[in-house]
Amino acid sequence: MKCLVLAAGIGKRMKSRYSKVLHPVCGRPMIEWVLRAVQSVASEIAVVLGHGADEVRTVLPQNIKVFIQSQQLGTAHAVMCAKQFVSPAEDLLVVYGDTPLLRSETLEKCLKVHRREKPDVTIISTRMSDPSGYGRVVRDGCGSFQQVIEERDIEEFDRSLNEVNTGVYIFRGAALLECLPKVTNNNSQQEYYLTDVLHKVRKVTIFEAEDSQEFLGVNTRVQLAEAERIMRMRICERMMLQGVTIVDPNNTYIDDDVVVGRDTTIYPMTFLMGRTVVGEGCSIGPMTRIKDCKIGDDATVISSDCVGAEISDGVTVGPFARLREGTVLKRDVKIGNFVEVKKSVLNKGTKAQHLAYLGDSTIGKGVNIGAGTITCNFDGVNKNPTVIEDNVFVGSNTSLVAPVKIGNNSVVGAGSVITKDVPPHSLAIGRARQVIKEGRFLKKHERRMGDAISEK
Ligand code: UD1
Ligand code: CA
Repeated sequence: MKCLVLAAGIGKRMKSRYSKVLHPVCGRPMIEWVLRAVQSVASEIAVVLGHGADEVRTVLPQNIKVFIQSQQLGTAHAVMCAKQFVSPAEDLLVVYGDTPLLRSETLEKCLKVHRREKPDVTIISTRMSDPSGYGRVVRDGCGSFQQVIEERDIEEFDRSLNEVNTGVYIFRGAALLECLPKVTNNNSQQEYYLTDVLHKVRKVTIFEAEDSQEFLGVNTRVQLAEAERIMRMRICERMMLQGVTIVDPNNTYIDDDVVVGRDTTIYPMTFLMGRTVVGEGCSIGPMTRIKDCKIGDDATVISSDCVGAEISDGVTVGPFARLREGTVLKRDVKIGNFVEVKKSVLNKGTKAQHLAYLGDSTIGKGVNIGAGTITCNFDGVNKNPTVIEDNVFVGSNTSLVAPVKIGNNSVVGAGSVITKDVPPHSLAIGRARQVIKEGRFLKKHERRMGDAISEK
């Protein structure tokens, strides 16, 4: 069976400058969700694009054919634009690009029914407690398919009609090709409705799906948020069943591609995004955003923002740390509050516990970075590297003016401004020497006191 996905509409009701199907649900464009769902039942997939076709194309896999509908004259017209894709001898699954919650299991079940009953079209319907906005499926006295009516084409709606058209159909290729040209645009929208094909074929089978959530059509941003909520819950449930503790799934935001190991606990208000991988036994959150990071086992990240970082086993990060692109923290590193790290490697057991900026630096093992240490990596034109070798102790409030290198086992005095390389096993102090003028304050003080007494 081939599959055609309709996604040419701009999605007026989204009030967006981007094509509707590009809006992400749990980190993935809506259309990608649909493509994943149809993959298991379709031998070949094509997409009808119109609005923002070039942008949408960039998220499509290579093997997907594209047909262009330059004017959106309706869903039947969209299928017409892909007429060459339809083979008379083969079935065609048609789905809309704005139903991201669709499941492949449901499509498989529907296909079975279609193969068994051999109608011209099998349509998936479902019952909705609030069917507003959807086309309604009307059955005849015997319970067989009679018609689909769009809500907009009826003034007074029969409230008891709660069976909706999900927008998923399996057509017998020949029947579709025969009836498609007969569809007219004689309706309130002056659109060519694909549902009209159902009124022209000989036999329609209704496959009534149980879970109506799956067919939420995203027309507005309110529905987008609803789709996101349902998908988010699906992802959290999957993770929990795989052995991850999620303290409050309603306040945990995990993208679908994220992988989390067993016995990791995720606290509320945590966002795990993009291609993030988290190992086993970690503690993540609360209030944490992690995007495109690789985290090992038994790591802890609290109230921090991490993007593009590699965090090894046993590392602790936060609270209130920021790890930026290219940060590599090897085993047992400790990054504390108000520490920012960018494009830097910190080797085993190194600590930067308070108020520091480490950028473009390579830091050895067992290094202690004192509170307030700053790598001055930018000279206004270039980014320059800082190298700190093993077991160095950098005193608090030190500025390391890059490019600069501190040799192993050296100590940098607190408050230093280091502009020159420091050889190994040395003490480097770069600050104004402390001056003491003994008794000076006392004399001044006595004089002032004397004045005060004589005034009385
Ligand atoms: C459609 C159905 C409705 C069903 C609902 C399910 C029709 C006439 N109505 O209504 O019965 O209950 O979906 O979600 O089919 N598209 C094109 N070209 C066009 C028009 C639309 O490619 O000319 C695409 C859109 O990009 C979208 C999909 O078809 O992905 C559905 O269009 P939309 O306008 O959202 O239809 P609904 O009003 O939701
Ligand atoms: Ca829709």
